[in-house]
Amino acid sequence: MTEARPPIRRIFSGIQPSGGLTLGNYLGALKRFAEFQGTGPETIYCIVDLHAITVWQEPAVLTRQTREAAAAFMASGVDPARSILFNQSQVPAHAEMAWLFNTVARVGWMYRMTQFKDKAGRNSENVSLGLLAYPSLMAADILVYHADAVPVGEDQKQHLELTRDIAAKFNHDYSVDFFPEVQPLIEGVATRVMSLRDGSRKMSKSDPSDASRINLTDDADAIAQKIRKARTDAEPLPGSMEGLKDRPEAKNLVNIYAALSDETPAALLARFEGQGFGAFKPALAEVAVEVLGPITKRMQDYMADPAEIDRILGQGAERADAIARPILHQTMDIMGLIRSR
Ligand code: TYM
Repeated sequence: MTEARPPIRRIFSGIQPSGGLTLGNYLGALKRFAEFQGTGPETIYCIVDLHAITVWQEPAVLTRQTREAAAAFMASGVDPARSILFNQSQVPAHAEMAWLFNTVARVGWMYRMTQFKDKAGRNSENVSLGLLAYPSLMAADILVYHADAVPVGEDQKQHLELTRDIAAKFNHDYSVDFFPEVQPLIEGVATRVMSLRDGSRKMSKSDPSDASRINLTDDADAIAQKIRKARTDAEPLPGSMEGLKDRPEAKNLVNIYAALSDETPAALLARFEGQGFGAFKPALAEVAVEVLGPITKRMQDYMADPAEIDRILGQGAERADAIARPILHQTMDIMGLIRSR
């Protein structure tokens, strides 16, 4: 028998404003963020600008991309009245908690992170110190709210394991039961949306080829063209997912379609069995445009009023701060740090 998990009380997740957002971010994160609203737990969503600056960001571009990310959250259904939506740098408790965690986490844990290895490449001595310490800040983002569950895509799994390690080491070192064991919520068929050009690589905003991804700012023509040109094979579609085992590109398109249309891949394949991509791709393009078109439009509407976005983020930051500060203070007390009361 599996042990019953305690009910989730608070959900936290974040997205970096380090480039335009993609269909991967939408299906793996944003769409699910909206779905958690009203299901019981409090939902806290953050645009993690302090994470973005661990690699160089042009200041004016960062500002625009932070607002664009806020617009994408809201256009995807995250409602700032039902969730807390803010940008990380406006709530100093994140950076303060990260410093405390820098003294708990071990350097070796950081070097082992695959995202660090990917981003640093052969240049690991010359990247920013922040890039190495990144997972410590991510643990702080989550634990400074005592959030117990974090919806993310598959690529963030290792960071969440490290968050659990930091919480466990803190609790152990200080003989407390203070930080919760964080539960990763990596669910559904779109936890790892792959590149449209290469089924072995993740769809990513940093891929040099724009044809590899669908951006949330792409118009209907661009979406249809990218899907038409997506790499596939010449085989017809099988009747079940088992038949797509060695066909990563085909499997990716089927998963994308299923996630966009909220149906199971099995139900989708039952309809398309025996048909080729000549029939499947136009149907997928139609669904993609139908779902993403209104989101892109709403993003544009929000972006027309940057002052209003800034106001919403500021209000979210105040609400976030009210939760985070007492937890930071308790952490400082546990560690023996004096503060004025
Ligand atoms: P980031 O900004 O790279 O991505 C944001 C979210 O989108 C998901 N995602 C994908 N899901 C499916 N398929 C894809 N191709 C795909 N690409 C991206 C990511 O898994 C993520 O859920 N370190 C985080 C940001 C972060 C964070 C946090 C997340 C900072 N602090 C605290 C959760 C909790 C990151 O770089 O995500």
